[in-house]
Amino acid sequence: MSADSRLTICQISDIHCGSPYFIPDLLERSILEINELDPTAVVVSGDLTDAGYRQEFERAAEYIRRFQCERMMVIPGNHDSRNVGYIHFERLFGERYSIVDFEEAVMVGVDSSEPDLNDGRVGREHYEFIRRSFSGAGDKLKIFVVHHHLLPIPGTGRERNIIFDAGDILELLDEVGVDLVLSGHKHVPYSWKLENMFIVNAGTASTTRLRGNTRPCYNIVEIEDGRVRVFRKYPFKERELTVDFDPRTHAYWRREDRIVDSEIPVTSE
Ligand SMILES: [Fe+2]
Ligand SMILES: [Fe+2]
Repeated sequence: MSADSRLTICQISDIHCGSPYFIPDLLERSILEINELDPTAVVVSGDLTDAGYRQEFERAAEYIRRFQCERMMVIPGNHDSRNVGYIHFERLFGERYSIVDFEEAVMVGVDSSEPDLNDGRVGREHYEFIRRSFSGAGDKLKIFVVHHHLLPIPGTGRERNIIFDAGDILELLDEVGVDLVLSGHKHVPYSWKLENMFIVNAGTASTTRLRGNTRPCYNIVEIEDGRVRVFRKYPFKERELTVDFDPRTHAYWRREDRIVDSEIPVTSE
C-alpha cells in the first residue's frame, strides 16, 4: 500500500429487507451517512433479504442502488439462498464471487451460503480463486469478505454456523497474507486478531434482530498513510474505534469488547 493513500471502505451487513424486524429509517439513514463519507468502496456482506423472495431482493436492490459509490461489492448470505433466492441475487447483483481491485486494496468476496441451510461453507473448489485473486496484490491491503463468521463471536448463545471449512479458510487467508476479513451473520459486532489478520464482524445495520445489548450498526474502514482504522457506526448516533493497525509493522490496538461480562448483572455482596 502506498504511504500517501487515503480511502474509506464502508461495510453494511444483514439489512434483511422483508423481515418484520426491518426498520427502513435505519437503512435510509445508514445510506445517507455512508454517502456523506464519499466512500472509495461499499461492501454489502449478505442477508440482504429475509427469505430470498423476489420482492425482498427488489427492495434491497432499490436501497443498494442509492449508494453513490463506483466500487460496490455485494455478496449473498444464508437468508438470500432460501427459496432459490440466489437466482434473484445473480439477476440483480451479478456474480456471487467477486473481486474489487483498486490502487490501494484488493477485496475478494465469496458466497458461503448453501441453499435453504443456515450453515455455510466456502468449499475447496473456490480456494484457487481466492489464492489467485490475492496473488498479484503486492503491498495493497488485502480484504476478504464472507457472510458467515470464521471464528466464534461472544454473546451469541450456542455456537453454530461457523463455516464448515473455517480452519482451511483461515489457514489459506493467512498464507496469502490477508489483512482484514469482513463478515456478518451473527448480528453482533466484534473483532478478533489471528496471526496478522483482523477478523471484523459487522452487526445488523437495519433490523431489531439483536442479541443482548447490541445495537444496529455498520463498519467504516479508514485507511490513511498505510494505517487502518475500523470504526463501528451506529445510525443516527456516534461511532467508536474498534481496531487500529498498521499492516506493515503489525503494530495494533484493539478495542476490548466485553460482551459477555457486560450482560451479567453486577451484584454487590
Ligand atoms: Fe442475518
Ligand atoms: Fe446470516
